[in-house]
Amino acid sequence: VIAHLLEENYDGDLVQAVQRCVHQLHGSYALLTCAEGDGRLIAVRSSSPLVIGVGDKEAFAASDLTPLLEYTERVIYLEDGDIAALSPETIEIFNDAGPVERNIELIDWTLEDVKKGGFKHYMQKEIFEQPQAFSTTIRALRPEDIPESLLHPEFVTIVACGTSFHAGMILKYLLETFCSIPSRVELGSEFKYYTPPVQGVVIGITQSGETADTLAALKAARACNCTTIAVTNVLGSSVTRIADHTLYLRAGPEISVAATKSFIAQLAVILQIVNTIRQGTCLDLLLHGNRAIEEVLLMDLTSSVLLCRNAQHIFFVGRGPFYPVALEGALKMKEISYIHAEGYAAGELKHGPFALLSGETPVIALCMPGETYQVMLSNIKEMKARGAPVVGIGLRGDTEIPDIVDVFIPVPETHLFVQILTTTVVLQLLAYLTADALGCDIDKPRNLAKSVTVE
Ligand code: M6R
Repeated sequence: VIAHLLEENYDGDLVQAVQRCVHQLHGSYALLTCAEGDGRLIAVRSSSPLVIGVGDKEAFAASDLTPLLEYTERVIYLEDGDIAALSPETIEIFNDAGPVERNIELIDWTLEDVKKGGFKHYMQKEIFEQPQAFSTTIRALRPEDIPESLLHPEFVTIVACGTSFHAGMILKYLLETFCSIPSRVELGSEFKYYTPPVQGVVIGITQSGETADTLAALKAARACNCTTIAVTNVLGSSVTRIADHTLYLRAGPEISVAATKSFIAQLAVILQIVNTIRQGTCLDLLLHGNRAIEEVLLMDLTSSVLLCRNAQHIFFVGRGPFYPVALEGALKMKEISYIHAEGYAAGELKHGPFALLSGETPVIALCMPGETYQVMLSNIKEMKARGAPVVGIGLRGDTEIPDIVDVFIPVPETHLFVQILTTTVVLQLLAYLTADALGCDIDKPRNLAKSVTVE
């Protein structure tokens, strides 16, 4: 359809033809066009990512920064409605009002960042980059970078999708529990369509900065005069142009479709927000979170992988902040190993899913110290009574969990905030190793895309 519209609108001037054509289009798109006899490439976007690479007597267009790294570190982010005419010598940008200037920005990612560097998969590399990603993100985000509006908000709404939604659930838990700030977290895809009453601060969490549902939710929040804050990994991505403030993750490029190091970097931002609201009570502890992650990366998970690799269904359960960690573990497992995995708040299993428990249905139970510890032990015993093999994750030195589970995975003894990181990394590794044992196409799981730019 677009090709025909272009043809109908073309009278020798390709830029004008594209301009007329896009006025007839609805929805989101990023287009590149060229015409015989015209040495230029014409690029235009609306709500879909498109970035221009500025080379030495060459120009590039891509939907993402990573393919450009091989050629240039200088980029131009197009605004919605911008039309760029690219030739080796010039880059001209127009909008409906005429020629416009757009800044050239420097990418701080390198070509090395997007190579596998000796790892078997990008996902494995990215899991092992997490100590660095966590440390860099937490150190780069200074307390003074947290917007004032987030220090004493009356109410916080968080919007996100997928893995980023799980980070949002953890933020909600920590804001309410440690800062007494009422909060809620909404799926971007739902928020836009049922338009809940919204006020105060709205935080959009999105690794790519291009997830259509999260962008739409933030736009809806802006329309209600809320203060909007983006948490993203990609400099200049669409979300940064919608939100009033942006907090950057310093995770570096994430190539694998399964989000790992960006999630840990999101947790770094979240923990720094909470720490700042609490006036820095645990900064030292957070600065050393990377060491606990490093310890987890050395673990041997062979027995747990053996339990999981032959399963058709796996349950992941936890309570409090470990409930979203369980959801994230299940998401990782299902998306890369294709084993059906469900995350549940541990108390909910007996409200239905118990019917599915059997000797062939492993349960991965996060059983961390705190007020839910005893009730988690009871839950594990109930699961064992239904015949389910249980992998228990708890603190190193725990003497009760090993007695009641089939496999015990001990994580370093640390503060709750760091336990959220370490337990997450255990589940990422478990998913990765299980999928690898099954020979799955880990970095490009079937039917999935890294950025979901359509609703
Ligand atoms: O780029 P975003 O963080 O907005 O992406 C949201 C989800 O599509 C994403 O987190 C997805 O769930 C992960 N790739 C799963 O590993």
